[in-house]
Amino acid sequence: DDQLQPYRTAFHFQPLKNWMNDPNGPMYFNGVYHLFYQYNPYGPLWGNISWGHSISYDLINWFLLQPVLEPNQPNYDINGCLSGSITILNGSKPIILYTGQDLNKSQVQNIAFPTNLSDPFLRNWIKWSGNPFLTPGNDIKPTQFRDPSTAWMGVDGKWRIVIGSEIDGHGTALLYSSTDGINWTRSEKPLHFSSKTGMWECPDFYPVGNGGKRGFDTSEQGNNTMYVLKASYNNREYYVIGNYDEKTDRFGVVGNDFMVSNTEFQYDYGRFYASKSFYDNAKQRRVIWGWVNEGDSESDAVKKGWSGLQSFPRSVWLSDTGKQLVQWPVDEIEKLRTKQVNITNRELKGGTLEITRITASQADVEVSFSLSNLNKAELIDSETVDPQLLCAQKNASVSGIFGPFGLLVLASNNFTEQTAVFFRVFKGPNKFLVLMCSDQSRSSIAEEVDKSIYGAFLDLDPHHKISLRTLIDHSIVESFGGEGVACMTARVYPKLATNKEAKLYVFNNGTETISISTLNAWSMNKAQIVPMA
Ligand code: FRU
Repeated sequence: DDQLQPYRTAFHFQPLKNWMNDPNGPMYFNGVYHLFYQYNPYGPLWGNISWGHSISYDLINWFLLQPVLEPNQPNYDINGCLSGSITILNGSKPIILYTGQDLNKSQVQNIAFPTNLSDPFLRNWIKWSGNPFLTPGNDIKPTQFRDPSTAWMGVDGKWRIVIGSEIDGHGTALLYSSTDGINWTRSEKPLHFSSKTGMWECPDFYPVGNGGKRGFDTSEQGNNTMYVLKASYNNREYYVIGNYDEKTDRFGVVGNDFMVSNTEFQYDYGRFYASKSFYDNAKQRRVIWGWVNEGDSESDAVKKGWSGLQSFPRSVWLSDTGKQLVQWPVDEIEKLRTKQVNITNRELKGGTLEITRITASQADVEVSFSLSNLNKAELIDSETVDPQLLCAQKNASVSGIFGPFGLLVLASNNFTEQTAVFFRVFKGPNKFLVLMCSDQSRSSIAEEVDKSIYGAFLDLDPHHKISLRTLIDHSIVESFGGEGVACMTARVYPKLATNKEAKLYVFNNGTETISISTLNAWSMNKAQIVPMA
């Protein structure tokens, strides 16, 4: 199987076959994690969009269940059960709010209820007889009205949701309120909009705390909370942080608004889209899932029989600076760790150091680097350059002073194939800049696959350690820089560096010697993702 399907993953969520896109309605309910997703039960390309359903006790191992929503209602979802969310009403009654495309491909909002609340897995859901509960208003194009969020409750006891839209060419999070979670009215003002973006998909809105990793229920109100608004557009996930006044429903961005600077924040600077978060009250954390699509062609999808992965679930919290989010793979991942390699305090002059004895195609790697003599760092005259462009101009093969240094993953003999996840440190007019790159340009000898290079600046001081965590899982390379201040996910399709042929290295292609403070790498066991008997 591994030989025939070298790109299937071992510990990322994917159905046995067929197309999958956005995560929908993730929740923790009565001791069970639920994940729903945009799913085509009949093939490996987008179509017949249904809500696939899987459940888990640990976010690692999954039972695959039957789809819960299928497109079969001419007046509200026959052309697809599109994305949506779950809200647990009164702590005990989950409801799905989702977008349907009707016979005319108008987008409308619908509700579904679990048919039997005493079924621990909530296997069956029934669509509400009153669907659709919302149709687009006159100022909204019928194809630009989708993806209702999880609802939160205001101080007045009313529920609120946002829905993604575009009005007068501006990306918008429409705001609605309801007393019962079923009947919704549009507020005069949207929660937020941007004149610099088009259509917003999959808006998400939730509180984050000041200090600590603890997460908050979507409805939690408190003095020390900030709010995150996330919108999906341009194939990326952008977020802003701000204050939300529960009395007036006003959201005010603190810091940069959407598209204001080249260093605005994204959940992930690579392939990661249409994410959705939920509050996990078992562990008092907020967890996000994101769709990681393919970088190969439709005909490859047909050959493989499947398309699309979910990111590894990540805990998300507000950084100590209060300016940005931090993300980290949920701790349960450690259950899959097996054979371990450890290195401490090793100098690395130019060149590579192979990490042997672990399964390099299926691994979890944590490494931290320390640098000295930073006054020698390469000068950069502008602190506002585009980091992704900089990574493309100075890819892994371009030698510098401090860097490129980092990991070479899924590397073949003689490095014919390699994916490089690395850092460079520059000295700008006012501060040091730490650049993180994920360079797929040599990831495969195949020509038709995407080999984009991704990049971001990390908000950290290079006098401290620079850390990198990378999850390597056959065709996905998910990296967390600076303890999670920047994430970068890539899809790669090596032809040579598959399964046992794949190798892992630490490398330094800069002229300055650097030091590996610590490196821990583990082979990863395979998660159980199986149909429920
Ligand atoms: C995002 C998206 C959503 C939509 C769904 C359809 O990837 O386009 O806006 O609801 O996918 O599958």
